[in-house]
Amino acid sequence: MIDAYPIEVTVNGRKRSLRVAPHHTLLEVLRDDLGLTGSKECCLVGECGACTVMLDGRNVDSCLVLAVEADGGDVTTVEGVASGGRLSRIQQAFLDHGAAQCGFCIPGQIVSAEALLATNPHPSRKEVEEGLAGNLCRCAGYEQIIEAVLAAADPDAPAGSVERAPGARSVGSDPAATPDARVAPQ
Ligand code: FES
Ligand code: FES
Repeated sequence: MIDAYPIEVTVNGRKRSLRVAPHHTLLEVLRDDLGLTGSKECCLVGECGACTVMLDGRNVDSCLVLAVEADGGDVTTVEGVASGGRLSRIQQAFLDHGAAQCGFCIPGQIVSAEALLATNPHPSRKEVEEGLAGNLCRCAGYEQIIEAVLAAADPDAPAGSVERAPGARSVGSDPAATPDARVAPQ
């Protein structure tokens, strides 16, 4: 019986040669073998999106992908989003808009947002909601997350012009905003 298979995968721009157990997921290999713990282990059944990475430009739940399936692939984790010591536009917008609460879901949200803007640089609010629908946030900071992605997509828009859900206020632009003002995407 073969207990480990050789795979070659490019992770955050670096080629890696690994031997992986056939039942190990991409998430396990990223976290346990490569020490990339930005992708989070949460539901492990493809429900929450905390483990989201990009595989060949597509966002996937890495808890549902076997590491052997990623052989020959190109993986981007949240650790690979910033470049040259600078946050990506999306990461900076998350900071500016107070989009991180506990932060547990944020790596997956960031990666999904990066994948969305890579294919649709100027999404509507509805497209952002749909693009991030697979990423759950238990802190329910959805409004700030959506605002951050919209702002990253349109950095020249005047402050406060981002389309909001009815009745929602932005923590980023209104320090008095409370969690009650946040709404989840439908
Ligand atoms: S940990 Fe992978 S989807 Fe929840
Ligand atoms: S910021 Fe806490 S789960 Fe989303």
